[in-house]
Amino acid sequence: MNRRVAASGVGPTARRTAAEPDGEHGVLGRVSRTMGRVIAIANQKGGVGKTTTVVNLGASIAKSGLRVLLLDLDPQSNATSGVGVSGVSPDDSTYPILVMGHPVAPIIRRTSCERLDLAPATPELAAAELELVDQEGRELHLRSALEHVRNEYDYVLIDCPPSLGLLTINALVAADSVLIPLQCEYYALEGLGHLMDTVRRVRERLNPCLDVEGVLLTMFDGRLNLSMQVAEEARRHFGGKVYATMIPRNVRIGEAPSFGRPVVAYDPACVGAVSYENLAREILANG
Ligand SMILES: Nc1ncnc2c1ncn2[C@@H]1O[C@H](COP(=O)(O)OP(=O)(O)OP(=O)(O)O)[C@@H](O)[C@H]1O
Ligand SMILES: [Mg+2]
Repeated sequence: MNRRVAASGVGPTARRTAAEPDGEHGVLGRVSRTMGRVIAIANQKGGVGKTTTVVNLGASIAKSGLRVLLLDLDPQSNATSGVGVSGVSPDDSTYPILVMGHPVAPIIRRTSCERLDLAPATPELAAAELELVDQEGRELHLRSALEHVRNEYDYVLIDCPPSLGLLTINALVAADSVLIPLQCEYYALEGLGHLMDTVRRVRERLNPCLDVEGVLLTMFDGRLNLSMQVAEEARRHFGGKVYATMIPRNVRIGEAPSFGRPVVAYDPACVGAVSYENLAREILANG
């Protein structure tokens, strides 16, 4: 049982079981899931918008009335600080989950956004890659640990580190799908072959149901030919898997983490926040 969440009175009973109309929960409307969908946000390239997407997609889905867990699987712990959580002890982080197979529920804490919970990371998680190497079933730890909490949420979003090591593999094995952010910059598609090979291998050996949720174009600037070219190339490569919603380069998105808030809470009217709400709408519509 989830200690922190249960203590705060929002346990499994708070889960929605029927679609409800728009209202106090904003523009997205509410769609109910019977089972929590686990999405790994992954790309081994650094700085492409993984964490920004985890935090703001999560906050947008939560704003629509659904329950969301953000699981920070990156030793940089940017998703943790991005929702204003600091001073976490390694014992209360995702580190013992990965390395010792501890359950997720006891480390879950609430954030300042309603219905948005967090399983935080600390820098100690960096040691997990090495510590896992000799362990049997090392790719399955997160999957087993999540089993007991995933159905308390409509969505679980996993923030992966910029590598294809055991942390990302654990995320892909635990996930129903992978969402790939692509920064609209030079070399955006470089290295994607490795990521897609990894997805294929995980599918063959460990998680046959792993799907590609979608490809998200981030830091898009419509004034630049380069952004347009990357978008075109991504659509040629991934076809309908590329979301219609593109996330523009937006100063407010960059500012929000220093206030420990998702941009959809920090400045809900800015173009960055609206784009993440549109993305959430698109994902919820896809089911
Ligand atoms: N749409 C955007 N507009 C402006 N700045 C952005 C946008 N998206 C992300 N950023 C900024 O770009 C930087 C990298 O983003 P982010 O941390 O989300 O990438 P990441 O893929 O998680 O990086 P890492 O691989 O290091 O984990 C951050 O400073 C973030 O605030
Ligand atoms: Mg990150």
